[in-house]
Amino acid sequence: MKKKVYITRKLPEEILDKLLSQFDVGMWEEEYIPVPKDVLLKEVEDVDGLFCLLTDTIDAEVLDHAPNLKVVTNLAVGYNNIDIQAASMRGIIVTNTPGVLNETTADLTFTLLMAAARRVVEASDFLRSGKWGAWSPMQLTGQDIYGSTLGIIGLGRIGEALVKRAKGFDMNILYYNRTRKLEKETELDIQYAELTDLLQQSDYICILLPYSSEVHHLIGKEAFSLMKKNAILINSARGGIVDEEALYHALKDGQIWAAGLDVFEQEPVPVNHPLLSLPNIVTLPHIGSASVKTRLAMAHLAADNLVNVLNGNEPISPVVSK
Ligand code: NAP
Ligand code: GLV
Repeated sequence: MKKKVYITRKLPEEILDKLLSQFDVGMWEEEYIPVPKDVLLKEVEDVDGLFCLLTDTIDAEVLDHAPNLKVVTNLAVGYNNIDIQAASMRGIIVTNTPGVLNETTADLTFTLLMAAARRVVEASDFLRSGKWGAWSPMQLTGQDIYGSTLGIIGLGRIGEALVKRAKGFDMNILYYNRTRKLEKETELDIQYAELTDLLQQSDYICILLPYSSEVHHLIGKEAFSLMKKNAILINSARGGIVDEEALYHALKDGQIWAAGLDVFEQEPVPVNHPLLSLPNIVTLPHIGSASVKTRLAMAHLAADNLVNVLNGNEPISPVVSK
């Protein structure tokens, strides 16, 4: 008898075909609406494998409804949507999609940095709304990128990919990380800084940490008070790392220059969120890894992890929590 798999969102055909060829597959057919919890609880009752997205909360309750579950494969590198401890206590393997999205996410992070620094969205809105009277010496002036100091919070796979982009702009690079990476300092020509020093010295601060309760609101009122007036904060990791209320005040009161966010505490961010009323912020709908090639690579990796585990083989990229 074929093993049973449930997929929590409509997947591209080539990924679905791979799974259909081996398993009895159930799928939430919507493209933009997450599967409701009550439906998920029912659907997982007899499954061996669960293919989920970062928008699905896979907690102990879900796992308890799935007595046959052997593997949860997440279509994301971040896995803060899954209770890893609860899964491990039940002997369930969790997998994610590291590596294949490094370059694409670093591209987007640098895009946000440049857009916020040079006021690209604000300037485009200015033109479209007919405000472009004439060229003027200080009109829409932003911040330089080349030669400035970049502080990276979380020097992991994507952080390292970001360094390569920043080097092309002659940036001086500081990083803060849980573990100091001495060999990377030499290899990449970057310097370690304590978080306080990084916040005080950087012109650009990019957050590339995984989310956990330990780093909830790591960047809040106190952190903003340490930053330079020209500082630009970029968050392409997870919304909960930044205290959005404190960010709103820091941007509105001119405590920092600008921000670029790909992620929010609540996603989708409500359209009446105070941050969206500010001109000095660039906001994107969590598209860090969203290139066709990368999203397909992530989906293949997630599917291959599932296939491996359900066929009694080792997963390619299991989550190993530290
Ligand atoms: P990674 O390779 O695991 O890198 C994370 C880095 O953060 C590691 O160097 C880790 O240090 C460090 N770190 C972890 N917890 C820390 C803490 N409490 N304090 C200080 N440093 C800490 O992860 P990645 O693949 O680069 O991805 C990073 C995150 O980006 C993901 O978890 C995800 O949330 C986010 N992301 C977002 C998008 C998007 O679409 N916007 C796309 C991809 C990823 P150690 O070396 O000590 O472990
Ligand atoms: C996206 O946010 C990911 O974690 O892959």
